[in-house]
Amino acid sequence: MDTIFHLHNVVYAYANTADSPALNGISMQIQRGQRVAIMGANGSGKSTLLRILDGLYFAQSGTVEAFGHTLDEAHLMDEEYALPFRKRVAFVFQNPDVQLFNPTVFDEVAFGPLQLRWDTATIRQKVNDALDILEISHLKERAPHRLSGGEKKRVAIASVLVIDPEVILLDEPTAALDPKSQSRVVDFLVGWANTGKTVVVATHDLDTVPDIADDAYVFKQGHIIAHDTPRAILANHEMLLSANLVHAHYHLHDGQTHSHAHIHVGHQHDH
Ligand SMILES: Nc1ncnc2c1ncn2[C@@H]1O[C@H](COP(=O)(O)OP(=O)(O)OP(=O)(O)O)[C@@H](O)[C@H]1O
Ligand SMILES: [Mg+2]
Repeated sequence: MDTIFHLHNVVYAYANTADSPALNGISMQIQRGQRVAIMGANGSGKSTLLRILDGLYFAQSGTVEAFGHTLDEAHLMDEEYALPFRKRVAFVFQNPDVQLFNPTVFDEVAFGPLQLRWDTATIRQKVNDALDILEISHLKERAPHRLSGGEKKRVAIASVLVIDPEVILLDEPTAALDPKSQSRVVDFLVGWANTGKTVVVATHDLDTVPDIADDAYVFKQGHIIAHDTPRAILANHEMLLSANLVHAHYHLHDGQTHSHAHIHVGHQHDH
């Protein structure tokens, strides 16, 4: 198997939080073509992990390897390593405000392709395709920072999809999206199965995990408390409760009317 990321005992603590590190001994291997869900309650370390995988933060102890090389500050200072890494790995941030900086939506989505020096006709075609897919073509002349939260999120996703990276890190991609946009993004994640694309998604949205991931981790206070298939993870009610991912009235249904099985979470019941 072709290992994309290999983490061994990774510890990362933000300033003044050494007593409770955001990541506290994380070991994992992510293989090429795997779609991995990172699940966990607020503050469990999901976003911190994605920043480590993207080479934005560096482990204070333990090791991180990407594509068979140590992913550390020294390597990322070296353009010969950093440029190909940045081309291969793309990150859709949880908060789109930190990602959007161009004057228009079109420019935002065209930014990556321009950096990669694609020809003008290809850029126009690919950008328009990405805008279409995320249903934001009507916004292309608008300023990204003046859009609604969900619109911004769609622009951020389009700006990453357009360059078709090998590895995509998505932090809560469906949060803030309306149901229709949510299902389009989920369709993408579903569609990436067996395409060779490696996808790591941090998510609270348990419903979608079996469809969008082949492998799932549950984080709690910077530790991995479970690693299994999405189905097995979702069947482990006690573990999900202890991770604060479900509440006590959680029920699991296999809906016969669905084309694929769905887990429904959060039904209201009168007891
Ligand atoms: N910039 C920061 N400075 C200090 N502490 C931080 C910072 N960012 C995150 N933390 C802390 O690190 C821990 C992990 O945060 P992280 O953002 O990785 O969690 P998360 O699982 O992504 O949560 P959420 O579901 O709310 O997005 C939390 O305790 C958080 O308070
Ligand atoms: Mg987060």
